[in-house]
Amino acid sequence: MLNGMPQDQHYLAGLQLAGRRVVVVGGGTVAQRRLPRLLSAGAAVELVAPHTTPSVQALADSGELVWHPRLYRAGDLDGAWYVLACTDDASVNAAVCADAERARIFCVRADAGARGTAVTPATGYHDGLLVGVLSGGVPRRSAAVRDAVLDALSSGSVSDVGADKPTVEGVALVGGGPGDPELITVRGRRLLARADVVVVDRLAPRELLDELADHVEVIDAAKIPYGRAAAQEAINSALVEHARAGRFVVRLKGGDPYLFGRGFEEVLACAEAGVPVTVVPGVTSAFSVPAAAEVPVTHRGVAHEVVVVSGHVPPGDERSLVDWEALGRLRGTVVLLMGVEHIGLFADTLIEAGRPGDTPVAVIQEGTLRTQRVVRAPLADIADAAADAGIRPPAVTVIGPVAGLAERTAATRG
Ligand SMILES: C[S@@+](CC[C@H](N)C(=O)[O-])C[C@H]1O[C@@H](n2cnc3c(N)ncnc32)[C@H](O)[C@@H]1O
Repeated sequence: MLNGMPQDQHYLAGLQLAGRRVVVVGGGTVAQRRLPRLLSAGAAVELVAPHTTPSVQALADSGELVWHPRLYRAGDLDGAWYVLACTDDASVNAAVCADAERARIFCVRADAGARGTAVTPATGYHDGLLVGVLSGGVPRRSAAVRDAVLDALSSGSVSDVGADKPTVEGVALVGGGPGDPELITVRGRRLLARADVVVVDRLAPRELLDELADHVEVIDAAKIPYGRAAAQEAINSALVEHARAGRFVVRLKGGDPYLFGRGFEEVLACAEAGVPVTVVPGVTSAFSVPAAAEVPVTHRGVAHEVVVVSGHVPPGDERSLVDWEALGRLRGTVVLLMGVEHIGLFADTLIEAGRPGDTPVAVIQEGTLRTQRVVRAPLADIADAAADAGIRPPAVTVIGPVAGLAERTAATRG
């Protein structure tokens, strides 16, 4: 007990550490976890430890902190404002905390929080907010509450009204990832929560639309009437018109906006109209959909190259910009998007150009979604296998030895 209060009743404060001496004793994984935030707060960190982890060593090597490679000794805390005792030796941590107490410096004791004079809250950032949670010695609880609060802020289900948030304007071109709503980026989700208008693609993570406030206008890009203008022009005009009317427009696209997504056409249209655009990259289906089916697009000793190809037009079509001859000579990975319709043609062309017919292939339909389906077969048989299984778009086709690696993990699957 301290002044009649249990010691785990803390007073939560924000420390201004910029330029102030902070001493960290111990260079192991606990220090490694704490150092980035101390450094981003601008603290002048001095680390005392005979050994460090490679990541802590890298911080010392790059000059972000000063490392004294030796054991702790009296006098190390002179001039410090804040101390973290995080060695794996309880007696050293106790000695550091006792010295800090005498010098009236707040000290975190990593191995026995209640015996220090300060504790580290579970913290996280959201849009300029720093959220900190203390739970009186149950770190897992504070971390869980912190995560829940950040999640609610990101999704907009808790709004930080009244905050002097940076204004958002114009258009944000947001890559929504392959379809699983959890695979959008944090920034993408944060901007989506602030949208007045959302123009959404068919393959974007539509489940996220349920989280939007009632006043948000959702426009299905496939249903924008385009009369005599091409569909893309009609979408561009919708973005520009809403933004010019003072609404913050989120253009929610599937995967990454710049991979076969016409994202740059929309950026150019906005630029021509003087509308500011923010581009938020996304997790592309080209890599994440194979990953969801246990296909790594590269693997050491197996594939050192990966080419992402559009199957929008078949080989031989005058609009095609793809060098199928070169792809046939490739030993690495070919990832084919929009390729279901002409899959037999692509397979034949690659085999004719030199790719062995027994090259493993995986076709993944609706990857990362509950409805995901995978068909695996050698290149020579993949068209029949996909047809037999009734595979339809959207699907990603991976051609190359990496498509056969999943067999190696079969033993670990239930
Ligand atoms: C017009 S491209 C857009 C690609 C997108 N910009 C990206 O980075 O993922 C559409 C193609 O992406 C692939 N695709 C997108 N999402 C998919 C998913 N969840 N499962 C399988 N294929 C997907 C399919 O090949 C589909 O035909």
